[in-house]
Order: sequence, then structure tokens, then C-alpha cells
Amino acid sequence: MKPEHPDLLAALRRSLLSALPMDRQALAEVRFDRHVGALVGTLQALYGKDDATGFDGWLGELLQTIGQCLAARPAELLALDEDRLAHPDWFLQSRMLGYCAYVDRFAGTLDGVRQRVPYLRELGVTYLHLLPFLKMQAGDNDGGFAVASFEAIEPRLGTMADLDALTAQLRASGISLCGDFVLNHVASDHPWAQAALRGEARYRDYFHVFPDRSLPDAYEAQLSQVFPEVAPGNFTAVPALGGWVWSTFYPYQWDLNYGNRAVFADIAKALLGLANHGVEVFRLDSSPFLWKRPGTSCVNQPEVHLILQALRAVIELAAPGVLLKAEAIVPTAELPPYFGSGEARGHECHLAYHSSLMAAGWAALAEQRTDLLARVIDGTPELPSSATWLTYVRCHDDIVWSTLKPEIAAGGESFSQRLTPVSRFLAGEVDGSFARGQAFQTSAEVPVFGSNGMTAALTGLSTATTADEIVHAERRIRLLYALALSFGGLPLIYMGDELGQGNDESDAHAALRDADGRWLQRPLLDTARWIARDRPGSPSARIHALLRELVQVRKQLPMLAADQPRRRLTTADPALLVLARGDAFVAVMNFSALPKTLPLSALGDIDNSAPWSDAFTGQAATAALSLAPWDLCWLVRQP
Ligand code: GLC
Repeated sequence: MKPEHPDLLAALRRSLLSALPMDRQALAEVRFDRHVGALVGTLQALYGKDDATGFDGWLGELLQTIGQCLAARPAELLALDEDRLAHPDWFLQSRMLGYCAYVDRFAGTLDGVRQRVPYLRELGVTYLHLLPFLKMQAGDNDGGFAVASFEAIEPRLGTMADLDALTAQLRASGISLCGDFVLNHVASDHPWAQAALRGEARYRDYFHVFPDRSLPDAYEAQLSQVFPEVAPGNFTAVPALGGWVWSTFYPYQWDLNYGNRAVFADIAKALLGLANHGVEVFRLDSSPFLWKRPGTSCVNQPEVHLILQALRAVIELAAPGVLLKAEAIVPTAELPPYFGSGEARGHECHLAYHSSLMAAGWAALAEQRTDLLARVIDGTPELPSSATWLTYVRCHDDIVWSTLKPEIAAGGESFSQRLTPVSRFLAGEVDGSFARGQAFQTSAEVPVFGSNGMTAALTGLSTATTADEIVHAERRIRLLYALALSFGGLPLIYMGDELGQGNDESDAHAALRDADGRWLQRPLLDTARWIARDRPGSPSARIHALLRELVQVRKQLPMLAADQPRRRLTTADPALLVLARGDAFVAVMNFSALPKTLPLSALGDIDNSAPWSDAFTGQAATAALSLAPWDLCWLVRQP
């Protein structure tokens, strides 16, 4: 905020305070002084150019809305905000564990989720990502990613009162709720879209509408496709709009026009509304696509970051305990700006998915070599304090291979030559493959795009029959989860993985899978497995126990907190991956089907002067580590 605008500053302060009761004004003033500069600076850059008419008045209204949201923030959330501000590293600690599920798949309804909180606690979960639960488009809705209202819960799943009850119980149990905030697009039956369809000019401007194909064709020349097979193209003809509407994803998901400041204001209000219902983390869906610029890929544009920084400033003013998580499935090198760069470093998102790490883990498993993984790890930048990666093995989407393009190019190889065999391996199309996944959106022209399947299917557990096959598959699951848990980030378990649950092969969901292969990894929680998790020796009990052990051991190791230093150690064996965390932790991971022996003295430059011990057994490490196929070892050293 430039000091030459004292009048504007004073007016904005008045707008914010006007909405607030006396006992929240002092707090608001402190936050205003700290964050108004970022808010006004970013919005000025986005919307205030050329003395845009009414910009100052619009800003005043926005500040008033923010004030109203702060006034409405429940006292217990206000207290949570203060606590989080006092402990900004709360989500970086090694006790943190995420769990991700669809509400209906996991527990039927929001109330059902509430009843399963003890189960989450038993696993050690501290962060629960529930996939979209807001009112969704009737009929097809991309698993709820076509949002029909930011103010209502999907009726099948419950009510706002159920959400309040759930968030209260989660808070009391030390679990933060993460909700999807689908800010790139709304459903074609969202009231904004409906108003546009009725011809209301104000709402037509909420979208990118083109009267003919000339601009869409020009844009298409530079754009890539998210669903080249099932939803080709980025524009949809809508006769009632008299033209073509931008729809990056499905035709019924209409991209919002962030060039229109009214969109920003409505989205900010919607975000704060949900924060006041106790959503503590927002997964900012499809963040890279928010801004369109002719002649570019319309991904990762600088304005995307201004929008996200402005939203961060809005959060800082009215709900500073809340975290923002970027869902930006882009190469690692393109991610640092999502945490804020330059003067804004540390003032954008708190979290971002490390999707190349996830994809490279699967490639390593398929290829029995870790060079891509090593390149990803070496290229993972240092983050600002109070920010970290979301590390994971599987999620509801496909494994997106394009994120690995830079690492493959760095090795001088062709993307498709290197990864087509990986994609085919995971689909079980290669001799000797243990995996039973499926390729996603591939064709003769696009031989490698994405891969679908649950962890248990991709690691061979689902089809394992002999004792050896079962043990090997379990080790592969443990290996990938151990990487996510030791890398340094907030690790996430995807629902069903903790029970070794396989692909959804149910007849009831066959039509969904036929329409979009990602439904392969969106099964109903298998209640038989769920119940059997307590029966020693049952398949689900074995996986459950091995994951719980990893989680419990990690919790005891402060060097695995997200903000502790990480470094990869080189080994001569291409199937091994060695990761050090600080001076007192080393993970050795064997991605090969063969047993390996590694002398401790071969571990690069680590200090071997003090004795190392096995973090799981407590036994002293011998001079040479022996690793069974797909096994791993966590070595720790007493300080
Ligand atoms: C995100 C979601 C994905 C959805 C898309 C469109 O990538 O994870 O499931 O299809 O956004 O909202």
C-alpha cells in the first residue's frame, strides 16, 4: 500500500471496522496494519489499472465484507486463529498425518464421517481432506467438482448444521478439516451460470464467453487438454449464451473470469463463509488455470499468483488460522511461485501437492530404478518457513505423468519413450508386471498421459496369491508410504490404502468408470476389510498395522518434521534411494525385486562416527545393511 494514499487507507480501515463489534476492533486494526498492503497491492495490480472506475469504492465494499465475516466468526475459531498465529509451524510437525476421502465413499454422509472420527484418531490422523461436499450439479458433476452453491451442502451428504457438528468434533479431536474450494469454475447450474443463461449481463461477465470460434480457435492453438478423450477442447458451445464458454474441464464446468473484480469479491466471500463453518484448510482446486492470456498456455500466469496472494491477505484479515493449499499439478520447478515469490515469498499458499514426487515414486517401482525420483528430489526447492509439501502415494485423480517432463528431458530422453513402458507396466500390460491399473486418456497419438488404480492394485496386492507375492506387494506399499512419510511434508493416506483395498470393480459404479476411468480409485470403503483390521493376520490388519507402525515411528522422530533439512545421498546402485533428514536420520529404500546389501561406509558423506540404529526395531545397525526386495530401512542416531 503506497503511503501516498492516506485517504484511501483511512477509508478502508473505516470500512473494515464499520462491520465489527467493539471487542473485535483492536484485533482487526492490528491485522489491517499488517496485511492491507498485500491486499491492496495485489488487487490494484489486478483490477486498479488505468484508474478503473469505482475501484476505491469496490475495495471499500470488499473490506466491509471481510469485516462482516470477521464479525461472524465463531469465538472458538477466533481462539483457534490466535493459537495458530502463535504456533505457525503447527502443520509442519512429524505428528501430522492426512487422510483423504469422499464423504459418501467413506461414511455415507457428513454425520457418518463424524461417527468415524474415532477410526481416524486410531490411525493417527490430524488432517482430514474431504473431497467436494458442497451442493453439486445434478447428474454429472465430476465427483462434486462442479459446484452448484458455495453456501449449501450437497443434500445427499447432509446440511450446514452437520458440517458445523463435524468440524466441532474434528477440532475437539485434534483433526483439521480440509475442504475443496473449486475456484476455477462453477457448475452450469450454479446461480451465476443460470443468471448468465438468462441473459443477465452482470453474470455473463462472470465467465469467458465468445460469440464465435475465432478467439477460442486462437487460444486452442496454445492450450493443452485435461481430458483429451472424454472432454476434448477447452470451450463449449452454449446456444443460450449465444456463443462459446470457456470450460477447461468438463463442458458443464465453466471457468470463472477473474478479470472481473466482482468474481474475486464473491469468491473471497464464499471462502470466508466456509472458513466460518470450521473448514481449516482450503484445497484450491485447479489453481494454475485461473488467468487467461492470449498467446500463452493460460497456465501459471503471473496474475494467478496475485489472485492467490490477495486471497491469502483476505484470510489473514478474517481467518488467519486457515491454510491455503495449491492444487497445481505442474512440474516441481513451476511450484515455488505458489508459495509466493520475491517480496511475496511466504505470503501465498501454505501447502502444495508434490505430484512429481508421487509420480516418480510409481515410475521407480515400475522401472526398478530411482534416477527420476533422484532428479525430482534434487530439484525440490527450499520453501519459505511455515510452508510445506503435501506428500502422497495415491489420490482420487490419475497419476499425471506430464509433471515429470523436465526430469526426463534432463536425462536427454524422450518423454513418451521413457514413460510409455511405465504406464503400460502399471496397467498390467507388460510381461512380469504385478500391477493392475489402467491407463487414462491415452490413445495412439497420446501413448502416455495418466494412470489410474488404487495403491493395492498398482502394487500387486490385489492379485497376489502366494505368501511371497503378498509379502512383496505389502513391501511395495510400505516403501511408497515410507517415502511420503519421510520426505518432509504433510503426508496423506488415501482412503482404502490403509486397508489394502483394491480397485472399484463394482457393477453399481461401472457406468461412472466407463465415463471417466478415475472412478477406478474411488471405491466405497470396504466394510468387511474395515472390520477385519482388528483381526490379527487378516489382509487388512497386516496393511493397517504396517502403515500405523510407519506413522507411529515417524511421530517420534522430530527430524522428520517438514521443516527439517533434507538431502539425497548418492549410491552406486540405481535401484536404491537414500534420503537423509538432518544428521540423525537416513532412509534407505530398495526399489528392486532383488535383495541388496549396502555398507554403511558407502553412504556418501554421512557421519558414521556415532552408532546408527534401526528406527523400527531399535537394534544397532550392522556395518552393512541388508535389504530384501522392495524393503526399506530407517536409520536413526541418538544425538
Ligand atoms: C482437480 C480435481 C479433479 C477435477 C478437476 C476439475 O484437478 O482434483 O478431480 O476433475 O480439478 O475440478
